[in-house]
Amino acid sequence: MLWFVLFLFIVALIYINTEKPKNFPPGPRWVPLGSILLQVLNKKSINKSLTEATAEMSKNFGPVLGLKVGKDPIIIIYGPHIIKEFSTSDDFIGRPIGLYYNLRTWGKRLGILLTDEEVWQEQKRFIVKHLRKFGYGSNNMTFILQEEIKYLSDSLEEAISNSGYIICDIRNFFNVGILNTLWKLISGKRYGYEDRYMVELQNILTKLFKTIHMTGAPFSHFPFLKYISPEMSGYKCYIDAHISVWNFLRNELQCHKRILNLNTDPTNLMDTYLAQLNSIENGTSFTEAQLLAICMDMFMAGSETTNNTLKFCFQHLILNQDIQRKAQLEIDDVLRGRLPTLEDRLKMPYMESIVSESLRMFGGRAITVPHRALKDTKIAGFNVPKNTVIAANLHGCMMGPDSGFKNPECFVPERFLGKDKLSIPDNFIPFGLGKRRCMGESLARANIFLFTAALLQNYNFFMVPEHPPGMGVADGVTPGPFDFKTKIMKRY
Ligand code: HEM
Ligand SMILES: *[C@@H]1O[C@H](CO)[C@@H](O)[C@H](O)[C@H]1NC(C)=O
Ligand SMILES: *[C@@H]1O[C@H](CO)[C@@H](O)[C@H](O)[C@H]1NC(C)=O
Ligand SMILES: *[C@@H]1O[C@H](CO)[C@@H](O)[C@H](O)[C@H]1NC(C)=O
Ligand SMILES: *[C@@H]1O[C@H](CO)[C@@H](O)[C@H](O)[C@H]1NC(C)=O
Repeated sequence: MLWFVLFLFIVALIYINTEKPKNFPPGPRWVPLGSILLQVLNKKSINKSLTEATAEMSKNFGPVLGLKVGKDPIIIIYGPHIIKEFSTSDDFIGRPIGLYYNLRTWGKRLGILLTDEEVWQEQKRFIVKHLRKFGYGSNNMTFILQEEIKYLSDSLEEAISNSGYIICDIRNFFNVGILNTLWKLISGKRYGYEDRYMVELQNILTKLFKTIHMTGAPFSHFPFLKYISPEMSGYKCYIDAHISVWNFLRNELQCHKRILNLNTDPTNLMDTYLAQLNSIENGTSFTEAQLLAICMDMFMAGSETTNNTLKFCFQHLILNQDIQRKAQLEIDDVLRGRLPTLEDRLKMPYMESIVSESLRMFGGRAITVPHRALKDTKIAGFNVPKNTVIAANLHGCMMGPDSGFKNPECFVPERFLGKDKLSIPDNFIPFGLGKRRCMGESLARANIFLFTAALLQNYNFFMVPEHPPGMGVADGVTPGPFDFKTKIMKRY
């Protein structure tokens, strides 16, 4: 490892340009070693996540921060005032270009999450429209989620029946539920808890998330490293992980192609997309590879985010038993023993406020997916050269000093309650804002609401003193609590 760091250091001195562009947003001085170290050193040895570190710097440098990570300049914006200028401008709706973002789709720019301009617009519009057609965001989604909830309850019932309680590791608690709700949307299928495809899917995604980082990888800053040291530069595992995802999705797509029936209405994304490919309106950007990339994007964007939000939710429910009891009063009162549906949300403002507060715990520690300036432009008077990467640190809107949220680290659902109904402040934006806004908001909210309500309806969740929830934040692709265990007991 040491020779590798030394090597990078020398390369850095030669390669890195520490001149800032004219009128670039303020930030720490660009020292070659500093930026490279940020890149290479193990995240654990720098104690701060990127969110924390940039929030800290914004105290000194203001709401528009100019940084250099590896070889690339990057602008991070912070706080509720600047976010509107950022989100409403069409100058900033691009996504970064470069090896790190192309390689995941084998050199072409494909999918929705990391594409821009016409292709992105056409694909995003198509997907949003068609997801709605087979019930995404409507009551049909309730049925899909209720089915998953029943399977989770059944497995809990069985485990609890022996000793009256069960101790669960939160790490994998929601995996099957979350992955199945996505998979059902994509392929129309669900897998059982022990199914080998489910196990494989979990392994593949775990591997994928390990290789991805907001700041790229050594090979993406110095592409020649992939030849010199494919392993240490992160190249090999990046490729391997993406091949696995791709193969998994392609196998499923082959099944769909074999039994595709164009005379019935499609009920999942793959069939819908195949029908489009076969139709007369064969749009230019519609291809099979595009479909695979979109499926990959949905797992990337929808699994870890929902997982971490649910983990934040249960972390705080365990630490605040009074919140659990209060939620259960509402649940019992409204549901009277039946399963919750999405329509119940209007009558359950307290549960809804728990959902929002969990989203704040997650979003308030996250940075948006990186954007890219599509042309030379300005933000808050500073120059932003074309192609500069720019992202919003959402901490500023949901936890920072100007956010309007008092004691932002405390889990207080009541802050979202007005008189008997939900009251959501403008700068509560866990799903981002503007044209790049999240595509999965209704699925994410539905998952968090239905799973939490149904679990609290039947079970109490307690702390396990040997494995308590910590208060720190684990820094993955997205932030989450450190793993903890919970003791689950039946309420009745
Ligand atoms: C708690 C759960 C979730 C949170 C907090 C969340 C949040 C976000 C945020 C902050 C962005 C980026 C906005 C930007 O770049 O400015 C985003 C983008 C996106 N999300 Fe989500 N998301 C969640 C769940 C999901 C789910 C379940 C799906 C899948 C259906 C999904 C699909 C997407 C897609 C496709 C994009 C990219 C949109 C684009 O680039 O135009 N998300 N999400
Ligand atoms: C820094 O990291 C160590 C080890 O990961 C951890 O025990 C400690 O609590 C962290 N400190 C802060 C301030 O986060
Ligand atoms: C709900 O989904 C089923 C298939 O799962 C489909 O046949 C039906 O048309 C959908 N209903 C609505 C209202 O979207
Ligand atoms: C649609 O496009 C695909 C890929 O370009 C092509 O293979 C297919 O034959 C086209 N279908 C029609 C009906 O034009
Ligand atoms: C949920 O988070 C845990 C880490 O706490 C991870 O091992 C697991 O793969 C995640 N599951 C999903 C579906 O993202």
